[in-house]
Amino acid sequence: MSERLFLAVALDNEVRHGLASFLGERAIRLPGRPSPPANWHLTLRFLGSTDALQQDRVLEFLDEHLIVEPFTLGFTGMGAFPKPSRATVLWLGVGRGSDDLGVIANVCEEAAVSVGFEPEDRPFHPHVTLSRIRPPVSVDGLIEQVGTFPLKMTVDRVTVYRSHLGRDGASYEAVDEVLL
Ligand code: 2AM
Repeated sequence: MSERLFLAVALDNEVRHGLASFLGERAIRLPGRPSPPANWHLTLRFLGSTDALQQDRVLEFLDEHLIVEPFTLGFTGMGAFPKPSRATVLWLGVGRGSDDLGVIANVCEEAAVSVGFEPEDRPFHPHVTLSRIRPPVSVDGLIEQVGTFPLKMTVDRVTVYRSHLGRDGASYEAVDEVLL
């Protein structure tokens, strides 16, 4: 049996609640379909359909090859894919710690390829997806209004998430983790 898995950094509870309050205090109404705070995370590598053997081998690979020490992660403000004037994904960006995150994402990429997944050809762009927007809208004004999110957290683990696709969108369940 296979499951839809991805590797990510979970936001810690302080940052999760802090970000919800930060948006709430500014009375920010996110356009499109906001992702619920429980779903907020930083994807390192989306795997997709993964069988139990692949899952075990990815975990073993990460155990062996993740040699980054825990580090501090800071955030920037919001940004958008493909661009703020025609946004389909509204996200929160990463400031401090993005190099370390890139190193971890590389190891996750190697782990994925080592168990048979196709290499990812898009560059790694760490982000916390806040909302998915169809049709696209401009979020230029919103980005300016919101500014920089000030909290920081320690990244000390990689989490394996299972994604459940439902009628009300996806929900994510942490199923395993590898400590740094
Ligand atoms: P996104 O937030 O930018 O949409 C779970 O779906 C996580 O994996 C999401 O954070 C999503 O990024 C990311 N992801 C990357 N590639 C994906 C793909 N091909 N299909 C679904 N999700 C993907």
